[in-house]
Amino acid sequence: NKLFTFDPGFMSTASCVSEITYIDGDNGILLHRGYPIADLAKHADYLEVSYLLLFGERPTLEQYTDFIQLVKRHTLVHEQISRFFHGFRRDSHPMAIMCGVSGALAAFYHDSLDISDEEHRDMTAVRLLAKMPTLAAMCYKYSIGQPFMFPQNHLSYSGNFLHMMFATPCEPYIVNPVLERAIDKIFILHADHEQNASTSTVRTAASSGANPFACIAAGIASLWGPAHGGANEACINMLEEIGTVDRIPEYIAKAKDRNDPFRLMGFGHRVYKNYDPRAKVMRQTCHEVLKELNIDHPLFEVAMELERIALSDQYFIDHKLYPNVDFYSGIILKAIGIPTSMFTVMFALARTVGWISHWREMFKPGNMKIVRPRQLYIGQTERPFMPMDKKK
Ligand code: CMC
Repeated sequence: NKLFTFDPGFMSTASCVSEITYIDGDNGILLHRGYPIADLAKHADYLEVSYLLLFGERPTLEQYTDFIQLVKRHTLVHEQISRFFHGFRRDSHPMAIMCGVSGALAAFYHDSLDISDEEHRDMTAVRLLAKMPTLAAMCYKYSIGQPFMFPQNHLSYSGNFLHMMFATPCEPYIVNPVLERAIDKIFILHADHEQNASTSTVRTAASSGANPFACIAAGIASLWGPAHGGANEACINMLEEIGTVDRIPEYIAKAKDRNDPFRLMGFGHRVYKNYDPRAKVMRQTCHEVLKELNIDHPLFEVAMELERIALSDQYFIDHKLYPNVDFYSGIILKAIGIPTSMFTVMFALARTVGWISHWREMFKPGNMKIVRPRQLYIGQTERPFMPMDKKK
C-alpha cells in the first residue's frame, strides 16, 4: 500500500502527456494547440477548430475546403441505424438513446476497421464528426414523434444541425445567422477540455484497444452526469425551480449552507479558480441571442439576476465560484428552442471531436499504455473460509 499515492479524483496526478489543450485554471487560460479559445471562437468556425484539434495545425484554405467536403460526404447514417431508435421508449432521455445509438455505430464499423492504420483512424474521426449531429437530431425527432430529417449538405455544420432539429418534411427551417453562429460557438467552446471525466473515460476505454465508436459511447455515458455535461440541463431546471427573482436569496442561502447539499448549478469548476474563459465568450453570445430574439421570459430575468448576485456575493468571490460555460450555454439553448433534455446531447456532439483527438493522440509512439489504476485496500485482512453452517 505504501507504494501508491492516494489521489481520489485525480486532483494532482497527470494521467498522460498531451499536445492538444492547455489550461491554466488559476489565470483563466484555455489554449487549443496554442491558440486562445476566445480567438478561436471569434475568428474560426467549429470545423476549423475540429481540424486544429485533430491534426495539430489550422488548415490551409484548400485543406479546410477538402475537410468540409469530406465531413459532408459522411453526414448520413446507415438506414439500419434509424431502426435502432424505434426500440427505445419515446419518453427515454435523449442521452440514454445517444449512448445506445453511438455505441451501435461500432457494429457498422468494426470488422473492416483497422485502428493500427492511420488512414482508418482519420476516417473514424471524420465519420464521428459528420454523424454526431445527425444522430443527436434524430434523438430529438424520435422523442417528439416527427420524421427524421436528412442532413442538408449545402448548409453549414451548425445550420444543418438546426435544420435537422427543427425542419419538417412539410416546412423548412429558415436558419437565423445569429442563432447559427451562437450554436457554432457553443460547439467550439465545448470541443475539448483536456482530461475531464468523459475524455479520461474515452482514453481509459481506448487504452485496451477497444472499438473507437464504443469508446465514444463510454464518453457519452460519463458526460451525462450533472457534475459534468449534465450541468447545463441541471442549471435550467434550477432556474425553473427558482421561478422568480424574489426567490433568488433563498437559493443563494441554500448554496452557502454547508449542511445543505444544494449547489448552484452552472457555478464553479474543478480547474478554473478564475473566470472560465469559455464562459466569458458564452456570456457575450448569450446576451446577443437574448437581444436578437427579444425574449421576455422570467427564466432569463432570474438567470441574469443570479449572475449579478453571485458575482458580487462574498461567498462566491471567496470560493472562486464563477458562472461556468454551462450556465450560459443552457440559457442560449433554451432561448433558441432546444429542449432541456437535449442540452447534454449537444455537449456530447461538440465534445466528440475532443474525445477522438485524444484517441488519435494515444497512437503516438509511447502513448498507448493500458490504464490500470491501483487502489489503497481498506477491507478485511485474510481470514479463514468457514462452511456456511459453521459461520457465525
Ligand atoms: N454552489 C455552491 N457552492 C459550491 C459550488 C456551487 N456550485 N461549487 C463548489 N462549491 C463550494 C463547495 O461547497 C465547497 O465549499 P467548502 O470548501 O466551504 O466546503 C467549495 O466550493 C469547493 O467545492 P468542491 O466540491 O471541493 O469543488 P470541486 O472542484 O470538487 O467541484 C464542481 C467542481 C464543478 C463539481 C462544483 O463546483 C459543482 O458541483 N458545480 C455545480 C455543477 C456544475 O456547474 N458543473 C459543471 C462544471 S463545468 C462543465 C464541465 O467541465 O463539465
